[in-house]
Formats: sequence, C-alpha cells, structure tokens
Amino acid sequence: MAKTKIQFVCTDCGAEFSKWQGQCTECKAWNTLKEFKEAKGPANRPDFQQDARFKGYAGTHSKVQSLSDVNLDEQARLVTGIGEFDRVLGGGLVNGSAVLIGGHPGAGKSTLLLQTLCHLAKQQSVLYVTGEESVQQVALRAKRLNLPRDDLKILSETSVEAITEVSKELTPRILVIDSIQVMHAPDIESAPGSVSQVRESAAWLTRFAKQTGTVLIIVGHVTKDGSLAGPKVLEHMIDASVMLESSGDSRFRTLRAIKNRFGAVNELGVFAMLDTGLKEVKNPSSIFLNRSDESSSGSIVTVVWEGTRPLLIEFQALVDGTTMGHPRRVAVGLDTNRLNMMLAILNRHGGVFTGDQDVFINVVGGVRVNETAADLASVLAILSSLRDKPLPSDWVVFGEIGLNGEVRPVPNGQERIVEAAKHGFRKAIVPIGNKPRKPIDGITIVPVKNLDEALQRLR
Ligand code: TYD
Ligand code: MG
Repeated sequence: MAKTKIQFVCTDCGAEFSKWQGQCTECKAWNTLKEFKEAKGPANRPDFQQDARFKGYAGTHSKVQSLSDVNLDEQARLVTGIGEFDRVLGGGLVNGSAVLIGGHPGAGKSTLLLQTLCHLAKQQSVLYVTGEESVQQVALRAKRLNLPRDDLKILSETSVEAITEVSKELTPRILVIDSIQVMHAPDIESAPGSVSQVRESAAWLTRFAKQTGTVLIIVGHVTKDGSLAGPKVLEHMIDASVMLESSGDSRFRTLRAIKNRFGAVNELGVFAMLDTGLKEVKNPSSIFLNRSDESSSGSIVTVVWEGTRPLLIEFQALVDGTTMGHPRRVAVGLDTNRLNMMLAILNRHGGVFTGDQDVFINVVGGVRVNETAADLASVLAILSSLRDKPLPSDWVVFGEIGLNGEVRPVPNGQERIVEAAKHGFRKAIVPIGNKPRKPIDGITIVPVKNLDEALQRLR
C-alpha cells in the first residue's frame, strides 16, 4: 500500500510545502499553513476515479486534435434566469464547468442558489445536495420564499462518494454542493473542513463533473480565523469563482467574479436581501448614490467601471490638522499607497501641502475601487475638504493622474459620461483624451489636461 504523504498547504494561496513554516513564502501570509494528507492510492475507488491521482481535474485523457476541430456545441450556456447572476457568470452556466460560490456564513449563498435552482429545475434536472441544513429546512425556506418546489431534487448527504453514486443514476444537468466544508472524501482521515478534505472532495466532484458534463456549483464559506479551509485552495481546479459579499449597508449584497474562464472578471452583480429572499438591483448606481441635493465639502461623485458597466459612486474625504506627531492616512475602499501617491502629486504639481494634515478617504457604500480612473475624484475630494469648499452636487469627475501631474484618459469614457447624464449630473470634469467628439445631451463636459487645470475648478 502506498504511504500517506504529508504536506503543508497554504489556505490562502494554495502553495505547497514539505515542511511547516510560520509564513507562506508565496503569498507572505502568516499562520496559513495547514497539514494536508494526500490520498493513499487508487484502492477502492469507483471506475471513474481509478488512478484519479494521475488524471487532471479535466478528467479523461483525450486525443490530440487541432483547435478548430474541437466541438464547440457543448459550450452552450444554461441561463439561470437571474439576470445579475448570469451577467457575473458571463452569460450563464457552461456545461461541465465547476463554479465556486464563496462568501461569509449568512451572506445568502444558499438563498441565492435555492432561488436560482427552483426556477431552473422547471427545464433542467437539478440535484441540490445540502450537507448543512436538513431537507425540511430547505423545503421550508423554499415555501416561505414562494418558490416552485415540484421539480427540484434534494439530497442530504456529506460523502462525495455517495453523492457521485446518486448522480450517476439521476444524471442531473446541474449538481449543487452546499457546502464543500462539510463534505468528506474516502481515504482521507482528517475532519471535514480541513484543507485535505476540502481539496480532495472538490477534486473528486470536479472530476466527476468534467467527465459527465454536469454543471457543478460548490458553495464555500470564507472565514477570517482560518479554522476552516478557505476556498482559495480550490481556486485552481474550478472554472469560475464568484464571491457574495455584503457591502456597507447590510441589506445589499454584491456578487463578484474573482476568476472566470468563460467571461469577464470583476463583473459586479448587486442584490438586496429582503424578507422575500434576494432581489436583483437592476440600477446599482442609484443605491450607492443615495445623497441629498445639498453639496458638502469633501464629497465627490465619480464613475468607476465594473466589469462591463459603469457605476456611479461617491468619494468622501476628511482632511484635518494632525494632533499627533505623525499624520494619518486612512483609505477605506481604496489602496492606501495610491492615496499616498496622490498626496505627493498634489504637493508637487498642485502646490497643496498636506504633510501636517490627517487624511481620511472613504468610498461610500462599501465598494472597493481598484481603478486609476478614481484618482481625480480622490484628489478633488481631498482638496475640497482641505479648503472646505464644496463641489456642486451635480458635478461628476473621473480620470487617472500621472506622476507628472498630467490627467490621463481612461477606458470607456463616453459610456461613463452617458451614465452620469442619465442620473442627472450636469457637469463632468474629464481627461481631455476622453472628451467625446459629439456633445452629450444634458451634460456639459469640462476637459482637463493636467492637475492644475482640474484644481482651477475648485478655486
Ligand atoms: P443563507 O442563504 O442561509 O446564507 P449562507 O448560505 O450564505 O450562509 O442566508 C441567511 C441570511 O439571509 C440570514 O442572515 C437571514 C437572511 N435572509 C433574509 O433576510 N431574508 C430571506 O428571505 C432569507 C431566506 C434569508
Ligand atoms: Mg448556507
């Protein structure tokens, strides 16, 4: 019998090590290494899992063929019917793909899936495996949410071997595992939820899905304390990973693709958690932009690009004389390094010194902005707070600022301006490179070449 090999795996990035160490040398996280026992060998495995160690996650060994000969018909997508979910997935579920839905416990993963599946089950065969809740609990929730309950098949099981056995008989088009943290695979001795169980169970199920062309949806909890294996260790074997997160206002949930082999990443879907379940928010700009008409200093609206659509969000800055020796720079929803860079540019090219000021900047609504297009908004918000001079509430700004103080164009400029105009904004400060060729109805464009020109608008 093959000897069990012990390895250590980082629960954050999935890197493997032969010895335990305090810090993961790959992702530099501390205390994330967990013991991982590899499966002993192929003994007692069902047919499709024979010698599974030597097969990729994609399962079967296939013949060599030219790329143009590959049959693409099977790639047709299954539309879930929940628009925001479909968009985040890149247009629906792809056959034979494995999708991971991550999020903190209570985020609404089970609710979202139950709503999706009850509707999908009318056209497709769907098997919902619940390892956490009892079948009665799930049925009760479906009843309370007024969902059609006739067609959805449900199973309470935590052994992946049993699940694949049932699936082979039932041949569902979609198989949902809720959640991977309670599943256990044969030959693995550690407790469910440990890295080895999570990884082996997911590999087992993924292999099954790829070989049978089933759509596999895996639910994974993300916990901060690391006592359960984070879904990060699965990211390389699944095709798409989407995260359901609650934003600042706990009623709203954002669904974001972290990885997607079949669509754009960073696509954002927005839901509201009501007592009737999750409801799509078709026009998210309106919720992140819940402002009064009165203008206040330090507050500026910008347009960020989320996946395939624009999103209007508000930036707030507070600049105040520092009371401690060292000025503080705090950025919520924004990279602190970027904030420091903006302050340096503001000093050098705008002649605005903030070295004796605490600077706080906050992206309203709990959205995280990774785009450089927000540079101009953060700089103007900071200046507006420093001078206590509000910018009119119907102004919107966007643009990247270079280290030489130049304002650079950003992608999709025209669409951003159109979105702002749609929400009633009357003036847009934009990079000169984003100046539209034709005027846009209802909004005046103020193109700026450099930081100095932009700052003139606040003087
Ligand atoms: P759930 O889907 O069980 O979360 P997860 O599977 O991600 O752990 O969602 C549970 C939360 O959602 C719970 O805190 C209550 C809330 N909720 C509502 O507010 N309204 C509803 O209709 C439902 C079903 C849940
Ligand atoms: Mg759940």
